[in-house]
Amino acid sequence: MRKPIIAGNWKMNKTPDEARELVSALVPMVKDADCDVVVCVPAVDFAAVKEAVAGTNVKLGAQNVHFAKSGAYTGELSADMLKACGVEYVVIGHSERRQYFGETDKTVNQRVLAAVEAGLIPLLCVGELKDERENSYTNAIVEYQTLIGLNGLSGDQVKDVVVAYEPVWAIGTGLVATDEQANETIGVIRGAIERKYGKNVSDAVRIQYGGSMNPGNVKGLMSQPEIDGGLIGGASLKAPDFTAVVMYNK
Ligand code: 13P
Repeated sequence: MRKPIIAGNWKMNKTPDEARELVSALVPMVKDADCDVVVCVPAVDFAAVKEAVAGTNVKLGAQNVHFAKSGAYTGELSADMLKACGVEYVVIGHSERRQYFGETDKTVNQRVLAAVEAGLIPLLCVGELKDERENSYTNAIVEYQTLIGLNGLSGDQVKDVVVAYEPVWAIGTGLVATDEQANETIGVIRGAIERKYGKNVSDAVRIQYGGSMNPGNVKGLMSQPEIDGGLIGGASLKAPDFTAVVMYNK
């Protein structure tokens, strides 16, 4: 049995004061969650959120990580820096990073390797564009992105990675994949992992759905056998909404 994991991706939202307020409201409401709960916040909010979640079941996540240990990479943060700030999870390869900041499958893979080496849990994002789905490339795209993203990890390391299937056309659009579409494509991702790493690995790895997931559609999505959680954008920015997603089974 895989333990579901629901993570908020705040993207470029919330000052430290706003972050403290949101997380302080969230913590008591999700204390009895049956899933792992993570908030992936801007780096400027790490200190405030670390303090607000200390000793609770809510874990701190980041939204990206650089692959080098240190050096002349202006504006970047290393995995060791994130660790030192209390970060446990890190979103890698989000479609917004791929689209707007030129990240490629190759650099996404380097980031995953650096994160795992430092003891961070990657939330590796994969997903097809609208025209790729319309042209029936979805399966090929998600298999490729997943296997390249994980390349170089051992089977045991892959077991602990979280994959987030985020169809790009469903992100921030209000369009959501149907329960069946999401389940089917996540099954394709799991199948690719099984072919390369074996069934004991593919049975263990958790695969989230992301893309306009909200209190209204979470139950249906989470009732699907392949879907092990969610990566939540807009609905993670308000404590009651994110609580309703996290507590979907209550
Ligand atoms: P929305 O939930 O706002 O569609 O964003 C999803 C997402 O990109 C999470 O990483």
